[in-house]
Amino acid sequence: MKITDALLGEHAVFYAMFDHLDNTVPKIDSIDELKSLAALVARPLFGHAGLENAELFAALDPFLGGQGPLEVMRSEHEDIEGTFSHLDQIDDLEELKNELVRIMRVARDHFKKEENVLFPMANQAIGEKLESLGETWAQTRGVSLGG
Ligand SMILES: [Fe+2]
Ligand SMILES: [Fe+2]
Repeated sequence: MKITDALLGEHAVFYAMFDHLDNTVPKIDSIDELKSLAALVARPLFGHAGLENAELFAALDPFLGGQGPLEVMRSEHEDIEGTFSHLDQIDDLEELKNELVRIMRVARDHFKKEENVLFPMANQAIGEKLESLGETWAQTRGVSLGG
């Protein structure tokens, strides 16, 4: 299994979480509850981006380093991570809701760019290596690939 397939599966879980939060956030009136929910998403999201940085993007550097798509994805990781980290310092309920909804939209757009542009480029550039990176993904996540 390719690491890009595993990452696509992770995107799917985040889409489900974002959908749930898009429906839930407007009804929540507790800042603490919102921050707990945001943290629940942020933790695995940082793990997702961290694994992309450390494995997939690092492997792509010799081929795409310094070029648009890879650098854009890296800077979006920083933006998403920075905004999620900053949520904890917001004390205004409406501002917190708006920022949370906004950054989930940014994350969705980021995922779409990876799915439509970066992952296909990775397939072209390092197609064979994606399988061994898939094993690294499984070890990192504690997922058994069987056999
Ligand atoms: Fe990413
Ligand atoms: Fe991703």
